[in-house]
Amino acid sequence: MFRYGIDAPFWVFFNLIFGGIVIVSNLVAGTSPGKWYFVFWGGLLFLIGLFMLYYSGVSKLKHRDRILQAAGVKPGSHLLDVGTGRGLLAIEAAKMGASTVAVDVWSKRDLGGNGREAFNRNAAAELVASKIRVFEADVRKMSFQKQTFDSVVSNFVIHNLSKNRDVAVKEMWRVLKPGGVLVISDIRGMKEYKGYLENFGNAQIETKGPYFDTFPFARMLVATKRNGSGS
Ligand SMILES: C[S@@+](CC[C@H](N)C(=O)[O-])C[C@H]1O[C@@H](n2cnc3c(N)ncnc32)[C@H](O)[C@@H]1O
Repeated sequence: MFRYGIDAPFWVFFNLIFGGIVIVSNLVAGTSPGKWYFVFWGGLLFLIGLFMLYYSGVSKLKHRDRILQAAGVKPGSHLLDVGTGRGLLAIEAAKMGASTVAVDVWSKRDLGGNGREAFNRNAAAELVASKIRVFEADVRKMSFQKQTFDSVVSNFVIHNLSKNRDVAVKEMWRVLKPGGVLVISDIRGMKEYKGYLENFGNAQIETKGPYFDTFPFARMLVATKRNGSGS
């Protein structure tokens, strides 16, 4: 069920454990005037934890399909999945017949059980291991030539960068072919990313969402690189 990992595992378990303790300790504490106030906030934290688990285990797959559809993935197209984690987008794209490349730095903090081995295991289980090229690389410094990919996709990645998010967006744009599509799905920062893309001057941009079946609620930025553009 959690083949593609639990997103932000610390916060999921913090909400479940801390929220649970607050509820139980207030319910067994007898009558205190502020009891229901704490039960309410503990319950809210607990529900958020459950919703985060639901996203990681269930609705993540629906969101994956949304992203790949927006990216216009088709057999033979050349796709880059940035911050692939355990392979959510890359593996499905390869199953759809795209020639797929995936990069990540595999931060354990961002995704439960994150790692290249977990990616390899999932790709092997889906019989696409030989169809994906995987690299350890920071999105802000990728060694691909400019205008290499028909689609560049990333899910829940850019907000994790504490600095140089502009460089990350610029890099993804650089490696995209004219006519290609960049899809950034994230839980915040859409205005910021949109601003960077507008500055490039050759992007046709559409925003989608919010999607209430992800947690936190995601939005999607779909940017097409105008044909004839040099960068
Ligand atoms: C929340 S996970 C999402 C993984 C995957 N996209 C998914 O939706 O399941 C964020 C991913 O971004 C990766 N990441 C964080 N900083 C990165 C960077 N500078 N360059 C490339 N990947 C990065 C993390 O290692 C992690 O795999």
